[in-house]
Amino acid sequence: MIPSISRSHRLLLAAGAAAVLLPTGVAVAANPSASTPKGVCDVYAAGGTPCVAAHSTTRALFGAYNGRLYQVRRASDHATRDIRVGAKGGFADAAVQDAFCARTTCVITVIYDQSGRGNDLTQAPPGGFSGPAAGGYDNLADAAAAPVRVHGHRAYGVQVVPGVGYRNNHTNGVATGDDPEGMYAVFDGNRYNNGCCFDYGNAETDSHDDGNGTMEAIYFGTNTVWGTGTGTGPWIMADLENGLFSGVHTHFNASNKSIDAPVVTAMIKGSHDEWAIRGGDATNGPLSTFYSGARPNEVEGYNPMRKQGAILLGIGGDNSNGAAGTFYEGVMTSGHPSEATENAVQTNITAAHYQAVPVALDPGPQVSVQAADGSPRFVQHDADDDNVTVATVTRGSPVAERQDATFVQTAGLADPGCVSFESVDHSGRYLRHQNFRVHLQPDDGGSLFARDATFCVRPGNSGKGRSFESVNYPGRFLRQYAGGVYLASDGGTNSWDTATNWAADSSWLIAKPLGPQQ
Ligand code: AHR
Ligand code: AHR
Repeated sequence: MIPSISRSHRLLLAAGAAAVLLPTGVAVAANPSASTPKGVCDVYAAGGTPCVAAHSTTRALFGAYNGRLYQVRRASDHATRDIRVGAKGGFADAAVQDAFCARTTCVITVIYDQSGRGNDLTQAPPGGFSGPAAGGYDNLADAAAAPVRVHGHRAYGVQVVPGVGYRNNHTNGVATGDDPEGMYAVFDGNRYNNGCCFDYGNAETDSHDDGNGTMEAIYFGTNTVWGTGTGTGPWIMADLENGLFSGVHTHFNASNKSIDAPVVTAMIKGSHDEWAIRGGDATNGPLSTFYSGARPNEVEGYNPMRKQGAILLGIGGDNSNGAAGTFYEGVMTSGHPSEATENAVQTNITAAHYQAVPVALDPGPQVSVQAADGSPRFVQHDADDDNVTVATVTRGSPVAERQDATFVQTAGLADPGCVSFESVDHSGRYLRHQNFRVHLQPDDGGSLFARDATFCVRPGNSGKGRSFESVNYPGRFLRQYAGGVYLASDGGTNSWDTATNWAADSSWLIAKPLGPQQ
């Protein structure tokens, strides 16, 4: 946050605009529109290549955008809710999703087009692909599966697992034929596979493989069926149909380097006779150009192109749906963007400070929570009341004792990006703090209970294992103290807040479950 405040402060002063200085020293524009940040689509428009589609579940892509980003549908009653930006030109209001989806699951049903052209993405229809997962409509993404931070704000990406796909076969303003276009997308750099095909971009309007040159989409992953670059991948390539092109040929382009970045910017563009692949770290630094030059010419069909103008996400042109990846934002432009425009887009993206949030464990595994020093001391609840202690338990202990030290680690009741611990032998009861002591209590359905039972996984405070930070008391962590389990800060008023051994006592290992698997 601080860089944007100081940057807008500087701009305001430079422009001589009236600003109100609060006692804290934070500058607030007297005219809020004067400090509205430019969105990526404002950058493209300034370059003469406006966005004709703009999709993001994390942020506004126009400085003036003040609308809905995506829609979620919850499993409990099939109700839907739009998730909007929290402020004009701002970030997704993820808290609305968390509240709407608490105690149930949600899928992303619509990714709205911010360009005003109505090019929304929805569940992809069946296509020509005839693999094992072919047949009906693709699946929808779990709305909570890809937590991310963007400029410090919590948001969610679109997590594509094999079978998930989005598409719009009836678009408005997207390039067709050999028309020039550009596009970029921002992906999680650590989630990819070698399936076909984690794409975002221009594809066939009938969801069938209509031949060479009927697609022009970004691909990200480690597929080696067609093109490859150097290293082991992942690579940014172009899906031009019947081939993922790393350069002018499908087979190998030494200039197309594996991308090792936490979050990735991927760009392609195509015009008459020429096209390019660019990309880089979405959190830092400039773009590299992996290919720029002639259209593929080894086989017929790629020059001129025969683009059809559908937009897809997470799948191949014929609805091949074996791929994995995570999408945060992307746009399609009209016209061939200049490198200067693309570089300015990358500057905008890096300024958004994307941070992929590690999801510590698969949803719902059974675990035991062990002291991080590796001694056989585990979080355990009493057999007959809600008391929670740290006790010595081994694999030779009686089954009942082992089960009392075994929990289902679920998505957090108040924040699915965090975790909650449900007892395996008293289902519906969770570890929750109350007056800063940890108890095992039945979920009463209230929001206080949900927050008291939700902990965010952090690197271990001692440098070992993990630590669990309270969602409603940031800075306080699950800690063992005098045989009990507490919510403790590093130095504080309660006896269990003592700084002595705080780091070690608040660090834990997520161990294999002591109890027999249920
Ligand atoms: O071009 C690679 C893939 O080949 C396309 O995405 C798909 O339509 C076809 O199977
Ligand atoms: O544990 C701290 C607080 O104590 C909890 O949020 C609340 O349940 C209780 O009052």
